[in-house]
Amino acid sequence: MCGIVGFSSHSQSACRPLVNGLLRLEYRGYDSAGVALESADDLRVFKKTGKVAELDRFLAEALPEPERGKYTLGIAHTRWATHGLPTETNAHPHLADGGRLALVHNGIIENYAALRAKLEKRGCVFVSQTDTEALAHLIATFDTGDDFMAAVSQALKQVEGTYGIAVLSLRHPGEMIVARRGSPLVIGVGEGSTVVASDVSAIVSYTRQVIYLNDGDIARVTPEGADVFTLDNVPVARDVQQVEWDAASAEKGGYAHFMLKEIFEQPEALRNTIRGRLDRTDGTAVLAGLNLPPRELATIRRAVVIGCGTSLHAGMVGKYLFESLADLPTSAEQAAEFRYCNPIIGPHDWAIALSQSGETADTLAAVRESVGKGALVSAVCNVVGSTIAREAGRGVYLHAGPEISVASTKAFTAQVTVLLMMALKLGRTRRLSREAGLRLCDEIAALPDLVAEVLKENDRIAAVAAKYAAANDMFFLGRGILYPTALEGALKMKEISYVHAEGYQAAELKHGPIALLGRATPVVALLNDVPGKEKTVGNVQECRAREAPVVGIVTQGDAAARHCDDALFVPRTSAACAPVVTAVALQLFAYHVARLRGCEIDQPRNLAKSVTVE
Ligand code: F6R
Repeated sequence: MCGIVGFSSHSQSACRPLVNGLLRLEYRGYDSAGVALESADDLRVFKKTGKVAELDRFLAEALPEPERGKYTLGIAHTRWATHGLPTETNAHPHLADGGRLALVHNGIIENYAALRAKLEKRGCVFVSQTDTEALAHLIATFDTGDDFMAAVSQALKQVEGTYGIAVLSLRHPGEMIVARRGSPLVIGVGEGSTVVASDVSAIVSYTRQVIYLNDGDIARVTPEGADVFTLDNVPVARDVQQVEWDAASAEKGGYAHFMLKEIFEQPEALRNTIRGRLDRTDGTAVLAGLNLPPRELATIRRAVVIGCGTSLHAGMVGKYLFESLADLPTSAEQAAEFRYCNPIIGPHDWAIALSQSGETADTLAAVRESVGKGALVSAVCNVVGSTIAREAGRGVYLHAGPEISVASTKAFTAQVTVLLMMALKLGRTRRLSREAGLRLCDEIAALPDLVAEVLKENDRIAAVAAKYAAANDMFFLGRGILYPTALEGALKMKEISYVHAEGYQAAELKHGPIALLGRATPVVALLNDVPGKEKTVGNVQECRAREAPVVGIVTQGDAAARHCDDALFVPRTSAACAPVVTAVALQLFAYHVARLRGCEIDQPRNLAKSVTVE
């Protein structure tokens, strides 16, 4: 998804910091990139389709070192096409005012066609197919050369849709205006320079002191920091906060891919997720973000866990956990479906929004819908200070560290672990006994070590992956609490290896999909030794009777392995914890298939890390 970087300094060239910032945002997925550089008397724009490295090479030729020095202010962008093809013309920054004004924009301007028609009537000439260019011209029409921020505010008041923007104008040398509504924007306050970005990972190598803008904020950025206002020019106080992530934690650390690094980080990530949250005296969980009195917890009638993609799959695991451990009727809802189905939700319902990034547009809209209908709303996010975390107002952070690879891995296992702790806490206010709670505490505390055991199987998993890497289609089967993990295994496989993969409830296979099975369609069956295993073994026999090769996820030492062509072993756990260890084996399996197929693992085609548009 699109990324924004801005840089303002008295003496340092903006060139390098902007390109470095774009490189850090590459993981979000994009198809073109560009920068605008401003000096006291000059505004220059450079754009390229393809990778940031291309843009960097182009800049090195077009603007060699000595010339760069005078450009101490700049904005930059990676574009992920929404309106118009991924071309240089459609890439940002977009210009207006005869090339004196430059704008970068994330989000979607929904009324851009009407704005464009009006502006064209007034004589504005458009060169791109983008919605963003309409905003650039609109700002220019309000700019009298007097108050730049006022001109930007007036234009933004006419915009329907979402935006995170950074804008420069030669009429106002040295000034950068930034604003947000629905698209994140963070300002990093450094020593003698200020960095702006749509994602904190583009900032941490410069400074860890940041200001998070809220929706509706507009700010004037200078080398000293930023002054924040509402669009009606009322000053607002936004605290400078300390980011805990350092630059190193956003690097690959010797692994071939961020995805592999993040898979291997899971024992540590889970330790951080669990740390200080288990009460081994009362057999419950201590989740500061859910500090509701037991009486209030007891009045909750229903939970609705909301998310997209991998987060939705974690939410589906949550449904099993909440129902089995806390006797709480729970549904798991895809966020876009939820927001548009006029959901029946209100006081006594608990909406739990799951989102690694905390910026997914549909999940955010579902949070707003739930807040508006009076439900109790909690967020489970990884990115601290993200929009969903702030708007839900209450919640639990994953503390899994930055997830850079587009394919989500450690966020899934951390989400399931948080949901386990939430179910434990809720269960203990209901029917779950102290003894059962203590047992679950032990199981949760053991998870990081159990995941480390799965990681030791990496070589074996790679060898099994090599046998199946040429397949065009795969099926993933799971039963009960393992069904969402089968869906997650299939999602990992399809998104990074482009193998067509589908997840099914094991029992559903014979109601149709079995027609597709044959020698060329491997089946990955989740055969962990938990209740229901024998029935899944029966489904495996059905697959093998159709000559489909079966890869089983099997509990160490369990005889179920003999029903499979190959087995990937995971340690013994209870059913409640089985999704965590199983997901790790499936992540490695998908990773190795993708690697052997030569895929671009960290940035799969057509995908974006953070889906901030509907
Ligand atoms: C899959 C993946 C996506 C995300 C989904 C939600 O590997 O990464 O399916 O899980 O886009 O993103 P978040 O969790 O940031 O809301």
